Amino acid sequence: MDQSKTPYFQALLNYVDAGVIPFHTPGHIQGTGMAASFREFVGDNICAIDLTPMPGLDDLLQPTDSVKEAQELAALAYGADRTFFLINGSTSGNQCMMMTAVNPGDKIAVPRNSHKSMLGGLVMSGAFPIYMQPEVDEDLHMDHCVTPETVTQTLEAHPDLVAVYLVTPTYYGVAADLAEIARIVHDAGKLLLVDEAWGPHFHFHDELPLSATAAGADLCINSTHKMLSAFSQCAMLHQTGSRVRVDRLAAVIKMFLSTSPNLPMVASLDVARKQMATQGEELLSRTIALARDARARINRIDGLFSFGEEHKGRPGIFDIDPTKVVVTVRGLGYTGYEVSELLRRRYNIQVELADLFNVVALFTIGTTSTAAGRLVAALEEISHGERPVDMFAPSGILEQRLHRGSFRLPKTPPMRMLPRDAFLAQTEFVAFRKSKGRVCAETIAPYPPGIPVVAPGEEITDETLSYLRLELKAGVRIQGPYDDQLRKIRVVKE
Ligand SMILES: Cc1ncc(COP(=O)(O)O)c(C=O)c1O
Repeated sequence: MDQSKTPYFQALLNYVDAGVIPFHTPGHIQGTGMAASFREFVGDNICAIDLTPMPGLDDLLQPTDSVKEAQELAALAYGADRTFFLINGSTSGNQCMMMTAVNPGDKIAVPRNSHKSMLGGLVMSGAFPIYMQPEVDEDLHMDHCVTPETVTQTLEAHPDLVAVYLVTPTYYGVAADLAEIARIVHDAGKLLLVDEAWGPHFHFHDELPLSATAAGADLCINSTHKMLSAFSQCAMLHQTGSRVRVDRLAAVIKMFLSTSPNLPMVASLDVARKQMATQGEELLSRTIALARDARARINRIDGLFSFGEEHKGRPGIFDIDPTKVVVTVRGLGYTGYEVSELLRRRYNIQVELADLFNVVALFTIGTTSTAAGRLVAALEEISHGERPVDMFAPSGILEQRLHRGSFRLPKTPPMRMLPRDAFLAQTEFVAFRKSKGRVCAETIAPYPPGIPVVAPGEEITDETLSYLRLELKAGVRIQGPYDDQLRKIRVVKE
């Protein structure tokens, strides 16, 4: 197959060129009915290709023609047997993987530091989660990946597991030993599902971690929009081998996709695949070099630290994606949130993620050397500026917590009910401060990175309450609960 072709994008161009007189959705009719101010800004061309499945435009739900060819090209480029284009992100990818691989009550091993969309998959499928503890890095204050040893122990403790689900890389660009884990999982006769939302570029460069398709994952997902050039919400689900039922997967995808997909998004997936297949190595080489250079310069700034490939081999860090530049700002006395805010307010720079100790800058094929230089210069200036009242000083609240050992990513609370049963149970609101001992009916995930501290079906413990109080105090956004200020919390009625 010819990777320089973009069959789906071409199909849209052909439709426009044919000058078809449209009596069909979307109602803006190729921009004619669109508010002028919006149309002027977004441009005529995007309006012209915002169409709907029609003869000549194939159908994402039942592909037979240009979508089929575009997906086959993507499968070939990624070394998968089948690839499905998704238009609701890896969020829907996680839900589709679970709905394909597990039935109600089936056990599935999942890392605790999964994205909250994994919990959506558990609620929808009714599966029984067996949580695997990722490696916790006390120095960097972050979770890394699950190790092969943890996977082995989990399989031994739960021989009735149906599948193992992994997240790799993490939000911070740390990757698991996927080849070894794939071998262990497949030797045990189980399915391997991989949330590789942050690694859509891995397959296209030797200096990046091994991709999930190359490792032989049965199902894996990529957020093509995160690190490659597709529009937001665009993702791909890849399937390899003969362990999953392909008819079930196809049926699930049909259930999750809109019957009115946004066709420019679909075309952007087609074009992003071509870009990687034909120019990926060159574009990524430039990106990797830019990120490595920025990291080296940041590491020369007093008070800052950016971990890198020298950390490979530490627990849970099998490999590292160099395009994620994680800057630990604790040495400046600031929190990551504060530095993120300073970068935006003073320097007009927006980073991808901030947590208590770090900011994370993504370097992608779209990052320019000018932008990289601005980031480094801004961090340098911040480091020379007046230091804040140090939140981490011995009398500061964070340091006290760190020293008392009470600030730690909390342990997984006991699971009292299946996530699905708790989510669908009779529930009530109680005051957050009085919720200890109750069974939570919501997901509570400080965002970023969106890792649940409490999941539906789990008991609310003292440890989770104090951790969440700290996160709230530090100004972290809490995602998942109805009341995002966490004054009240939804629990299962007793
Ligand atoms: C590990 C992981 N999986 C899945 C998702 C969801 O991806 P999307 O935003 O493409 O729906 C995210 C989002 O940040 C993520 O970090």
